[in-house]
Amino acid sequence: MEKLSGKKIVVAGATGGIGRQLVKLLHQGGAQLFVTGRNQQKLDELVHSLGISPSQSMAVDLKSESEVAALQQQVATQLGTPDILVNLAGIGIIKSFEQLSVEDFRSSLDTNLVGAFLLVRSFIPAMKEAKKGLIINVPGVLGKVPMAGAAAYSASKYGIVGMMQSLREELKRTEIRITNLFLGGVDSPFWDTIDLKVQKERMIREEEAARSIWFLCQQPASGVVSEMVLQPFNHQAI
Ligand SMILES: NC(=O)c1ccc[n+]([C@@H]2O[C@H](COP(=O)([O-])OP(=O)(O)OC[C@H]3O[C@@H](n4cnc5c(N)ncnc54)[C@H](OP(=O)(O)O)[C@@H]3O)[C@@H](O)[C@H]2O)c1
Repeated sequence: MEKLSGKKIVVAGATGGIGRQLVKLLHQGGAQLFVTGRNQQKLDELVHSLGISPSQSMAVDLKSESEVAALQQQVATQLGTPDILVNLAGIGIIKSFEQLSVEDFRSSLDTNLVGAFLLVRSFIPAMKEAKKGLIINVPGVLGKVPMAGAAAYSASKYGIVGMMQSLREELKRTEIRITNLFLGGVDSPFWDTIDLKVQKERMIREEEAARSIWFLCQQPASGVVSEMVLQPFNHQAI
């Protein structure tokens, strides 16, 4: 395992259920962090609770190209070139196909797919210059095996997988590694706005999901974990 200490890591979606737990673990491991989320207050609470400097954080809507560009600039100034970029930002709209509005569909793609595109694209030049880097996306199991009601969500998450596969081909001659983490259901605020009967007690705990990313951040650079799947023991879709 590689040491986390001194590793420069950007976490997007840091204010979410999994993100907060991950930031805590990475901070404990001595990583140099830059954290981002959409909600300024949640971000302030997170950095304050861990004693991270507010200058190592920035609230950004990943749907906005100019905000993502400003984020990249701030990271360059405050952190330098990241060794690792973790993208945990995402929204879940789960509705039957006929009930999905075009706004539901567009906002799923805008946040989960276009947001991921803008975020990853903004850090590629610096990583290329450094000739190394690790990009971790979290398409989730629904980015591999769809379920009913997940047309918009799965479209966005399958999109990430296809987009990353193409990027891998482009980056073949560099040492930039890409990992896709396929998580099953995690008991986090993600489900709070979803009108679906779910058994949260059977889901993966936020800490456990975060620990899988913490583990991925420490993989030796001689190889690449291209995919990892973590599912609730009693509810395996793959
Ligand atoms: N929970 C699950 O069952 C599960 C399973 C598989 C995969 N995943 C994926 O794992 C990731 C994290 O999930 P989670 O459970 O931690 O969800 P969560 O608690 O709902 O957190 C989502 C995060 O995404 C951020 N976000 C949403 N829209 C954004 C935007 N437009 N710009 C910037 N940030 C935005 C949120 O920011 P604010 O809170 O600041 O608004 C928050 O930090 C998501 O991509 C999700 O699709 C989740």
